[in-house]
Amino acid sequence: MSLLEQEDVLKLIDKHLSDIELEIFPNIDSTNSYLFHQPLDEKIKICIADEQTAGRGRRGKNWYSPAGSNLYMSFAHRLHIEASALSGLSLAVGITLAETLQEYCQDKIQVKWPNDLLVNGKKLSGILVEIKNETDDSYKIITGIGVNVSMPEKAIDMIDQPFISLEQCHPLREISRSRFVAHIIRNVLDAMTEFKNNGFDSFFQKWNQMDAWYGQPVVIKIGKNKILGMHTGIDSTGALLLEQDGEIKRYSSGEVSLRRAC
Ligand code: ATP
Ligand code: BTN
Repeated sequence: MSLLEQEDVLKLIDKHLSDIELEIFPNIDSTNSYLFHQPLDEKIKICIADEQTAGRGRRGKNWYSPAGSNLYMSFAHRLHIEASALSGLSLAVGITLAETLQEYCQDKIQVKWPNDLLVNGKKLSGILVEIKNETDDSYKIITGIGVNVSMPEKAIDMIDQPFISLEQCHPLREISRSRFVAHIIRNVLDAMTEFKNNGFDSFFQKWNQMDAWYGQPVVIKIGKNKILGMHTGIDSTGALLLEQDGEIKRYSSGEVSLRRAC
């Protein structure tokens, strides 16, 4: 992909242009960490980097982020809602991102609860939502998106689970970096507006159809504990539903990891 110019992206943002501030860096530790420490006014801040030296996944895991290959982008915005209502945001962004990326490739993109996009069981993208409690009863929400577009071969030594790049998913068109990024920004901003106004409702209906492991036996890990059950989808807040011994139990993301049962 060609390198990204701020002006090229901004001219493709359309109706959201006056709502955002965009910064693009050749490299940074983590776009999420950067925005976490930036002051925030009413505008949505967006940070993109060509490379991250300390990219992060959930619970302190690394997100391998070499230069010139992939997309590393974060959004920071302010929300005045109950913390409990935030749980679906990561899933709403995941659905939106899956639908957007699907326009670029033939292979089916699926979601894995709570924050991954998979193609043929391999990880294409991850989403990291972080929340900072502000002094005025609002929350600063940082939503980070990593998409593998064209991973270098050496990545195989750096990532300890199956992964895939968009260019391996039978691409439908050549990716212009600025168009690709602007497309994702527009759709994620639309999704955030929908989430702010109407919560998780309109996303909830879509999740089960896109879920890679819906109806299959899975294991959830909570710390050292492992629980086996049947994945029966999510509830209207975005919590995972697991059938165990004929009973449906719900789990919210937090410290929970979902794995396919062997
Ligand atoms: P869970 O969130 O259910 O615990 P997970 O193990 O995939 O799932 P995440 O925090 O979602 O954990 O993602 C971080 C993990 O993703 C890393 O531990 C690594 O295995 C993998 N990973 C790191 N960089 C990449 C990348 N660029 N592309 C795909 N996978 C990556
Ligand atoms: C995950 O699968 O755990 C989430 C990975 C999120 C990676 C993105 S890349 C841009 C942003 N900055 C980070 O440090 N992480 C997110």
